[in-house]
Amino acid sequence: MSLWSRPLRDLAAVPPVVLRGRSNSNGLGELVRYSASPLLNRVRPRFPRIHAERILGLASTGHGASLTYLDASGAVRSSQLERWTGTKHMMLFAQDEDNALRHPRHRVEKSINFILTHGYGRFPDSRVFERTIDPWREWLLGELDGGPSAIDLVVTSNGHFATGWARLGPQLRRWFPNATVVRAIEHHEIHQRQAFWASGFDEAAVLTLDTTGEPLPRKGWRQIAGTISVADRDAGWRTVREWLFPEMSSGTIFDATTHHVGFRQGEEGKTMGLSALGTAELFESLRPALLLHPDGGFSFLDSDGFQAALDRYTPARAPGEEITQQHMDVAYAGQAILELIVVNAWRAAFELTGRSRLAYAGGVALNSVANGMAWREVRPPSVYIPPNPGDPGHSLGCALFGAYEVARWEPPSEELTEYLGPMYDEGAMAEALAATGHPLSRPRDLSQTLATCVANGHIVGRLHGRAEFGPRALGNRSILADPRRPGMKDYLNVRVKHREAFRPFAPAVLEDQVGEWFDLDEPSPYMLRVVPIRREKLDLIPAVAHVDGSARVQTLSERQNPDFWRTISAFHDQTGVPLVINTSFNLAGKPIVETPADAADCFVASEIDVLAVGPFVVSKKDLAWYLETDSGA
Ligand SMILES: [Fe+2]
Repeated sequence: MSLWSRPLRDLAAVPPVVLRGRSNSNGLGELVRYSASPLLNRVRPRFPRIHAERILGLASTGHGASLTYLDASGAVRSSQLERWTGTKHMMLFAQDEDNALRHPRHRVEKSINFILTHGYGRFPDSRVFERTIDPWREWLLGELDGGPSAIDLVVTSNGHFATGWARLGPQLRRWFPNATVVRAIEHHEIHQRQAFWASGFDEAAVLTLDTTGEPLPRKGWRQIAGTISVADRDAGWRTVREWLFPEMSSGTIFDATTHHVGFRQGEEGKTMGLSALGTAELFESLRPALLLHPDGGFSFLDSDGFQAALDRYTPARAPGEEITQQHMDVAYAGQAILELIVVNAWRAAFELTGRSRLAYAGGVALNSVANGMAWREVRPPSVYIPPNPGDPGHSLGCALFGAYEVARWEPPSEELTEYLGPMYDEGAMAEALAATGHPLSRPRDLSQTLATCVANGHIVGRLHGRAEFGPRALGNRSILADPRRPGMKDYLNVRVKHREAFRPFAPAVLEDQVGEWFDLDEPSPYMLRVVPIRREKLDLIPAVAHVDGSARVQTLSERQNPDFWRTISAFHDQTGVPLVINTSFNLAGKPIVETPADAADCFVASEIDVLAVGPFVVSKKDLAWYLETDSGA
């Protein structure tokens, strides 16, 4: 089914919704009181002000650990642990916690272990905090690092691994002897902060949609799955809605869908991609059970009922088994239900708060198809979704909370950049490339050279500047290829990235050209929005078209990333097409490359033809006929 026809038909099928009273009498989720004036409940008083000039945010959940540093001069560094270790979704445990998880002795530990081994599908790859934090911090901060004693404020999540379970709190105070340690921030508060404080907005509605959070005493040890709040940089935060796990958890519906089609946690994007190949048969049978509430919540089959419906339709697929049409239909159903819930939640966030700006985060915010649908159906004036909206972005949310709500720095009025990793010098770049054994060159006009390589069908790996903080490569850790070649998608999937053949590739397009090629007339800088390709352009860029004619677009301005913008501009000059394939610089199952040495290893082990790191190029092809260089190195 085409993306052109689906939203209108599906949304036309949404029945009028009626909020059944202001209390939650049917037991479907505990809500903050709702009235014509929704701004009733402040979540908590503002924190007592603490003077701090260097702030560390630290987070570890089932999706992996991350570290963020902010200082009063404006420096920001963020990175996920997986980029440093080379193992995806790597988590961080306190030593005691690690021991308890691997050798559970009592009931609580057994329950945590059960979650880790069954909920995540495996015992996670992890590092022990006490042996990791110092070298990891030194790697990330490099030139900035004054050591642990220079940190004034440490902010961590309240209840997730390494920093939760009351194991590491006292140790954090010993580890950072001059720091105040704040651990009182909840999972969804962090999601709210990573969206709002990075947006540059003065005030906004803030929406979070997720699978769950941590058990909260204030909720009778239940967990929150989503929130609507209002944030104002002067007046503070007020909660408008809180939806509870599991009955109002949009993430749970998509998790169940993902597991049923044979993918694991962290592979939700595969389910999203697969959904375009499904039919509406299962969705149509489930649709009557979905009731969308005007407060942004929903009622649906409980998780047992949903699972039973999926089981009746087709047995769950084991990883590696053939994907049948029925599995594609399951993906379609889960995706279409999620889209309806997300569109409804966006509408409610605007209507309940009366705000014209929306900041949106949580794991569900990574669903770029649902985002694209919500943008088109709600037509909001202004929405910000951070490039790392899920749990791996939590360390940034923690640090931003520390900066603007504890230390109370003056908030910036511009969006935070997405390029937050450490820098590498040209010596390290040249050394890493020389180690590949291929001749090293330094082109006079690198952008023209790379554009020519792409236009000639070569696969180009590009490492430039600081790495992106998030799951999408946005030009600094990217593989680039020609979108005009019909066979390029299959070649990249099968021969280069070794992943499923149905998965689409995203285009990075010049911002001022996007409206001519896509049904999109505003920036989409973080690749978090799927939109239709204009019909008349479909045949010109087949390698970035998904089966339904859509694409997950990254728009690019010169200001955002001058290096990447110049390369695409050169490709535009040479071909008339203002976009290239931009896929993350990694192989299947591996995190995105971080260092020049990582990039060189990936280049050697893959079918990537050309590798450009900083100003240097190595190639497996003979590029001499169009590669003018200043010197051999
Ligand atoms: Fe989350």
